[in-house]
Amino acid sequence: MIITKSRAEIEKMYRAGQLVAQVLKFLCEMVKPGVTTRELDTCAEKLIRDSGAIPTFKGYRGYPYSICTSVNEQVVHGFPSERILKEGEIISIDCGATLGGYVGDSAVTIPVGSISKEAQDLINVTKNSLYCAIEKMRVGNRLYDVSYAVQSYVEPLGYTVVRDFCGHGIGTAMHEEPQVPNYGKPGKGPRLREGWVLAIEPMVNVGSHEVRIEKDGWTVTTLDKKLSAHFEHTIAILAEGPWILTSLAT
Ligand code: MF3
Ligand code: CO
Repeated sequence: MIITKSRAEIEKMYRAGQLVAQVLKFLCEMVKPGVTTRELDTCAEKLIRDSGAIPTFKGYRGYPYSICTSVNEQVVHGFPSERILKEGEIISIDCGATLGGYVGDSAVTIPVGSISKEAQDLINVTKNSLYCAIEKMRVGNRLYDVSYAVQSYVEPLGYTVVRDFCGHGIGTAMHEEPQVPNYGKPGKGPRLREGWVLAIEPMVNVGSHEVRIEKDGWTVTTLDKKLSAHFEHTIAILAEGPWILTSLAT
């Protein structure tokens, strides 16, 4: 069942989303050569708890940290660790916070220092694909119009879309129905309704779409070890169009 949210509930989700956006902004400013991914996690947890919120990821199905840090060929769900970030790497930081009972979930991929054109192009394409999807989040469109928007933007540019992980409905739980794949047939799936809130999260690879899960049981890595990027926003479908709850208000 897909849970429709009232305006008041969406306002609460906006508060959770804004906290996630603020935390991600802070973490992005910390990222530079020499910083460990554990430092990012420690800082995220403190910022979230000091705001009266709960780091949603920590303890979720046994996940041990407050954020996911996925570097280079790591796609999603990478563990923060003593790994020292190096110039030229790219890092996806994925953050979730529960505030007032509602969850915000967002991710960005950013450079560590100066990076190759190949890496920067991948980041740009992945970010653009998220905004292509968000543009389709309008009442009356179909769910897989959103999915197809990612695939039909990414694949002609020579990149691939990860198929084994999806976006998702979100509310009082981080994962609600429906699942939102980043590929699919336009004109198919349920019609989008006012009051749905979805987390859209394209994962885009330079090489093959195939991924594997590492021995830690969580870290998702490209099979061919080529680069992958990931962006995510939590978005509400309003009568007037999509509202990106995890975009920082200026
Ligand atoms: N944004 C991811 C998701 O929606 C993050 C979950 S990490 C987890 O699935 F550890 F909490 F599962
Ligand atoms: Co998510």
